[in-house]
Amino acid sequence: MSLHDLTVQSLVDVAPGDGVRPRAWRRREQWRLDLTGTWRFHYATGLAEAPDACDAADFDDDGWDTQEVPGHWVLGGDGRYGRPIYTNIQLPIPMSPPTVPDANGIGDYRRDFELPSEWSSLGAIRLRFDGVESIGIVAVNGRHVGVVRGSRLATELDVTDVVRPGRNVVHVRVAQWSAQTYVEDQDQWWLPGIFREVTLVGRPAEGIEDYHLLADFHHTTGRGTLTVQLRDATFPVTVEIPELGIKQSWGAADDVAPIPLDAVTPWSPERPRLYQVRLSNDAESIESRIGFRTVRIDGHRWLVNGRQVRIAGVNRHEYDPDRGRVFDEDAAREGLLLMKRHNINAIRTSHYPPHPRLLELTDELGFWVMDECDLETHAFELHGWENNPSDDSAWRTSLVDRMRRTIERDKNHPSVICWSLGNESGTGANLAAMAEEARTLDPSRPVHYEGDYEASYSDLVSRMYAPIPELGDMSAGISSALSPRPAQSSRFRDKPKVLCEYAHAMGNGPGALADYAAEFDRFEDWHGGFIWEWRDHGIRTTTPDGTEFFAYGGDFGEVAHDGSFVMDGLVHSDGRPSPALAEVKQVFSPVTVTAMRDGIVLRNRRHDTDTSDYRFSWVWEVDGERRSDGDLDVPTIDAGGEVTIPLPQLPAEAETVRDSWLTVTVRESADRPWCSEGHEVVVAQARLDRNAAPLLPAPTGSVSAGRIMEVGPVTLSASGRVLSIGGVEVGESGVELWRAPTENDSLGDFGSYEIGDYTATRGYGLPGPSSAARWRAQGLDRLMSQTVSAGAEGDEFVVVERLLPAQGRHGAEVTYRWRRIGDAAGCQVLVSPIRPRTDVTWPRVGFHLLLPGEFERAEWFGGGPGEAYPDSRSASMVGRHASAIDELAFPYAVPQETGHRESLRRLDISGQATSIRLRAFGPDVPGFSLLRHDASELTAARHQHELPESRGVHLYLDAFQHGLGSRSCGPDVLPQYQLWPRAVSFGFTLELAP
Ligand code: GAL
Ligand code: MG
Repeated sequence: MSLHDLTVQSLVDVAPGDGVRPRAWRRREQWRLDLTGTWRFHYATGLAEAPDACDAADFDDDGWDTQEVPGHWVLGGDGRYGRPIYTNIQLPIPMSPPTVPDANGIGDYRRDFELPSEWSSLGAIRLRFDGVESIGIVAVNGRHVGVVRGSRLATELDVTDVVRPGRNVVHVRVAQWSAQTYVEDQDQWWLPGIFREVTLVGRPAEGIEDYHLLADFHHTTGRGTLTVQLRDATFPVTVEIPELGIKQSWGAADDVAPIPLDAVTPWSPERPRLYQVRLSNDAESIESRIGFRTVRIDGHRWLVNGRQVRIAGVNRHEYDPDRGRVFDEDAAREGLLLMKRHNINAIRTSHYPPHPRLLELTDELGFWVMDECDLETHAFELHGWENNPSDDSAWRTSLVDRMRRTIERDKNHPSVICWSLGNESGTGANLAAMAEEARTLDPSRPVHYEGDYEASYSDLVSRMYAPIPELGDMSAGISSALSPRPAQSSRFRDKPKVLCEYAHAMGNGPGALADYAAEFDRFEDWHGGFIWEWRDHGIRTTTPDGTEFFAYGGDFGEVAHDGSFVMDGLVHSDGRPSPALAEVKQVFSPVTVTAMRDGIVLRNRRHDTDTSDYRFSWVWEVDGERRSDGDLDVPTIDAGGEVTIPLPQLPAEAETVRDSWLTVTVRESADRPWCSEGHEVVVAQARLDRNAAPLLPAPTGSVSAGRIMEVGPVTLSASGRVLSIGGVEVGESGVELWRAPTENDSLGDFGSYEIGDYTATRGYGLPGPSSAARWRAQGLDRLMSQTVSAGAEGDEFVVVERLLPAQGRHGAEVTYRWRRIGDAAGCQVLVSPIRPRTDVTWPRVGFHLLLPGEFERAEWFGGGPGEAYPDSRSASMVGRHASAIDELAFPYAVPQETGHRESLRRLDISGQATSIRLRAFGPDVPGFSLLRHDASELTAARHQHELPESRGVHLYLDAFQHGLGSRSCGPDVLPQYQLWPRAVSFGFTLELAP
């Protein structure tokens, strides 16, 4: 068949890919030829333009370009080979399975290799592909050897009879779209190409074709059992575990028996103890590792080694801003270490098996892993799941084959404690068949699939983005939160539960992590969850004028796309942690510390490790100054245990002086692979005094009236605008209710939503307009100031203004009471709503001042070091903090509200020449932010590089901010964190710092 005809046929084929029976991945193959590197490459925009017969051994590819393998041809180029496309649910091709459009990038790859002469004695030679998107049609020496399908699965094609000593030629034709596209509709960039390794693998005639090592741990006795399952092995076979003094040989398959082992150390994320194992026979020797652990479901409990697992997890896509899904071991390891430093103990490999090496790293560093099959058919949901491959018998073999290849490749990893059938593929008989296959191949691990809403073929009940009340409902078996059929509710009640996705980390957010954690702690059948998701998928790009930025959907001129929905990670595209990661670290902490005035409660949430590797210390500070400190005497707490210890001995004044704080810190007591000795695991604080927030002092003199008012160092216009502070010019000032909407504020309507020019297909949130839409409808982004009165009243200069939008009647009345206080100017600000509405919250209530751009640094006493909002403030500690102003804002991919620090007491803002000192007062003590752009500039820009030139430093003193929530894909701000229009009063003083 001609290459052209073969391509036509292969594109629409729903059968599984070709290849020999899948087997466990081995890091070191004894006979291995690396075929990564530079291949010759030809790109065509469609099959009609692709060269025919270029798979022939003697085809002249002289005129061809080159391409690196592994790689994606749409990346790093100038668009010559097409561009990346981002879609979430929708497909960028028409819904006409299994066919694909004519516009279909075709990449022809060619290279040659020398077959080592020693290989002639081998039993078989295979060409192995670890990842090709979307299909690869392969020829060796001009002969067709098979089609590779399953983009993130491994394929081994038998080429024994095709290769020859000396020079050989491989040709791979990769098509961007194929029938497989319909079952690989994960929410991510479409990135075609050979993006994982290509290897020539030699197999000895009488080797050990495959092995499954089951290392059980018996938690009641502390013993282990190693069960070795061998496939196509030539005996005798020897298994060795040098560390346990085991060397066992079996003469025949019938001799193979479980090996009992005394006193082994079990494997867990906290203590990822691995033992080296060698399997060998006359022909080959395989090095592998085992970790002893037994996974079991017992009623509604998901157990490992007899103890319930606690999933403090993240969803991890394989992603790099320059190389896409190409795996880089160092970067992957860095990512895992960053997770470990932030108390993350679990990974869901959304939504496909990761590079096989990753699972060795998770074994080594310690993570619970939910290994997911490469499957998602989400686009069918937009057509009522009609023709869904999950329930179409034509797809059965193919989907079951995907599951089998996932399990066979990854079965020997102790970190993998469950198989997931895939993501968002509706429901159907094929999924049930996949679950069946999983149980047959590997009864040692449970099966997860979120979309099994009737809990009929999965072992875990799973949800995504469930609102908090639903967790308790599901535990109680209240059917509305469960299956449509109430009679089945007990089936749910009796199964372990997990959130495979929650807390959508898009832009500024998520909120309510601590609230979820409290529920996970409360309900025994809930085992925690995986935050969506680890990292933003921005593609490093430059504007025509050379400015670097991270591109998202729509930035490559895609016809259909889903905007910034691909930027929803805890880590920025460039690898830098977002402020949310600090919150994650606190909330996920393996040991919780609750410091109260009458004692400190410590709870060990670890799986099987006591606290002897931690050290505990305390410090007592008053007004941000250290008074005393010491080690905290904490008895060793067993896994799952709790102790209450008394507070350290402190003088009596500790309870009376203002701002008396006890801070307890838990640290690692030794170096760990992810940190050095002394690394902070968690910090907790208790306020020891009960003093109310200080109020603005009384005037110490009068104000001078005139066309320009003078209040100490501050000059004001007749209508009360601040003109200068100690000679430093102020550009703008006044109360602000608007904040640049976060993506949680602006997304989440049912139906389509808009992000500026971009229209995305769907949010996931609650019905009704988003907060931002309501705020805008009420004109909170365009309030006009109207001075009601301004004049001296006693020793004060009092200004009353109204803030209302064009045509609007809803807004706020503001009173500013300026007074002189020693060398400072003080102002008490009172904000009261005008005709507040019961269906529109406020974004913020704050005072805004535009200072000159020369200010560079901030030092403050108050909450910090990172940003904090009402529903994301676990990591905010009261103390003295300092930062460059430029580092107070986080460059979210889409500019939005950022940088708020709560509970300010004092703030020094300094530049080269001057420093301004600010003190904050109650009753509603404000927090602050210092930003290079104001709320409306941040609102208008779609990317960081679109922000206008900075006009200076914007100081916001916010008495309140609305919470963050997770509505970009999930629940809105919880009621207790919403900012409803209300009367607010706060004070501040301004002066030049000494
Ligand atoms: C989920 C989905 C993820 C991702 C997320 C939104 O529904 O499983 O793949 O799309 O929503 O970011
Ligand atoms: Mg999806």
